[in-house]
Amino acid sequence: MKNIRNFCIIAHVDHGKSTLADRILQFTHTIGERNFRDQILDSMDLEREHGVTIKSHPVRILYDGYILNLLDTPGHIDFSSEVARGLTASEGALLLVDASQGVQAQTVTNLKFAEKLGLLIIPVINKIDLSTSQIEKTKEQLMNLLKVKEEEIILASAKEGIGVEKILDAIIGKIPPPKGEESPFRGLIFDAHHNPYQGADLYIRVKDGRIEKGTPIKFLARDLVGEVKEVGVFKPEPEEVDSLSAGEVGYLSVNIKDLRKILVGDTITTVDNGSKTPLVPAEKNKTFVYSSFYPADDGNYESLREGLLKLSLNDPSFTYEPETSSSLGPGFRCGFSGLFHMEIIQERLEREYNLSLVRTTPYLTLRIKNKNGEMVKVKDPASLPPLSEIKEIQEPFLSLFIIAPSSNIGDLIQLCLNRRGKQKSLVYLSTDTVLLTFEMPFSEILVDFYDRLKTVTHGFGSLDYYFIGYRSSDLIKLDILINGKPVDALSLIVPRENSQQRAMAILKKLKKAIPTQLFQVVIQAVINNRIIARETISARKKFVTGKCYGGDITRKRKLWEKQKSGKKRMKSIGTVKIPQEAFLAVLKT
Ligand code: GTP
Repeated sequence: MKNIRNFCIIAHVDHGKSTLADRILQFTHTIGERNFRDQILDSMDLEREHGVTIKSHPVRILYDGYILNLLDTPGHIDFSSEVARGLTASEGALLLVDASQGVQAQTVTNLKFAEKLGLLIIPVINKIDLSTSQIEKTKEQLMNLLKVKEEEIILASAKEGIGVEKILDAIIGKIPPPKGEESPFRGLIFDAHHNPYQGADLYIRVKDGRIEKGTPIKFLARDLVGEVKEVGVFKPEPEEVDSLSAGEVGYLSVNIKDLRKILVGDTITTVDNGSKTPLVPAEKNKTFVYSSFYPADDGNYESLREGLLKLSLNDPSFTYEPETSSSLGPGFRCGFSGLFHMEIIQERLEREYNLSLVRTTPYLTLRIKNKNGEMVKVKDPASLPPLSEIKEIQEPFLSLFIIAPSSNIGDLIQLCLNRRGKQKSLVYLSTDTVLLTFEMPFSEILVDFYDRLKTVTHGFGSLDYYFIGYRSSDLIKLDILINGKPVDALSLIVPRENSQQRAMAILKKLKKAIPTQLFQVVIQAVINNRIIARETISARKKFVTGKCYGGDITRKRKLWEKQKSGKKRMKSIGTVKIPQEAFLAVLKT
């Protein structure tokens, strides 16, 4: 074990993680020049196109008598649970910062995670080859953030291969070797994939003991047992080995066909004389944002179901359940860790399963304490119980990190206060850069907060957040009536203090978004059975007889009749055609 080092790279999007991983693999001859293609670890098409690393790809590197396991970690905020898993499997992390951009908010959130887990942090400034690099300023930021000395910061250019050797030496010299017991065997599952021959491949970090082919294993969080059919490591292609021991990273192929049963983040142990203690407490539910997917073509329902199952398997922060909508038919209500996560899942489904999907407007989970003191989860505004039954409403809150030019502090603080934010701290990272920490309801950043932040900071501000828990808020349900009928899908949960303004703004937006119809449309906002705002869309006048140039009155009469029955049909259906944009317009107030 003393010759093993497990590490990952944490960085903001595009700061050069994949490029640095490539250089490390080349420098250590892990991959021969002939097999090399750029960004070798980003193997999914989608990742290459988005230029974003989504799944972790572990790789074993042999260097100077050491085994280095690189657990590549994704960079985007919505994937923080994966970042956490990669970090849990490591003893150290390279904190990579782009010299031309400096420390970004995401760097801070990932760093907080890593520090919580007690990882050793190696600061690296990348892209020093760029003419726009600001090495001194970035150094100052890192020194303020990490409380490290200047000489501890490694200067690198992943593009030109500068600093790679120093980085490898720091990994060996500074990151502690893994610690583990001789037995019983315990392994942390940090990823799982379908294996067409064996059942499933579990990517694991062995914490204690040893595992080999033929061993019966059990999963601690689930009532599940299986047998190890193959043991291997990633070089980076999978390669079979005899066994994996404490400290090592690799994969186990197991004969478990039902992938739904496998939980990433779970601990596995042996059936005989196994452990009872999980390595990490069962993953908390990190799903906050909900939205529903419907196949554009009903015939694709089964493919959608299959796709959802496979995707949910290696992504615990993604959940789904069947539901049927009266207007959209059978579909699935899906839960995500954030909006970007939602878009990626939709795109993966459409691309990998050749589906065309309709997605509804996203909403957040709330918790309700009812008058009997019971806590219930509410997944959409429409299913909120009547106010008379509610004692308390709780909504998800975030800890928010903003890094921005110090000249924008005033506007930024105002922006956050307007969004019900509470300021926690303000730290100068350098003379002209500040790190602001706020606590804020998730709902306040759900729509257009990031755009506003970018506007206020002229594009220089960066934002990241993590969930800190559910907290009580003074919220109420705002219903929208269209021609007297409540439209569930338009209901919103809003803070009481600005409900009147919100209602008025929403009605204005709806008035714009709903096209004029042949009859008058009245839109009303209702809180607790009381109408608090109203807008009217006048009927479109249609001169149906205009076409009948003179002549026969019976012909005109016939047309008038037709028009009347048309109106009647509309009225009797009682639905105004509401375009999809209207649903989004409601959120953007
Ligand atoms: P995500 O996977 O999206 O988080 O990005 P990443 O951090 O893996 O960044 P990636 O390696 O994809 O690099 C982003 C861009 O920066 C690419 O265009 C790289 O070619 C470029 N880049 C990476 N390192 C360097 C460097 O040292 N110097 C210069 N000039 N460009 C670099």
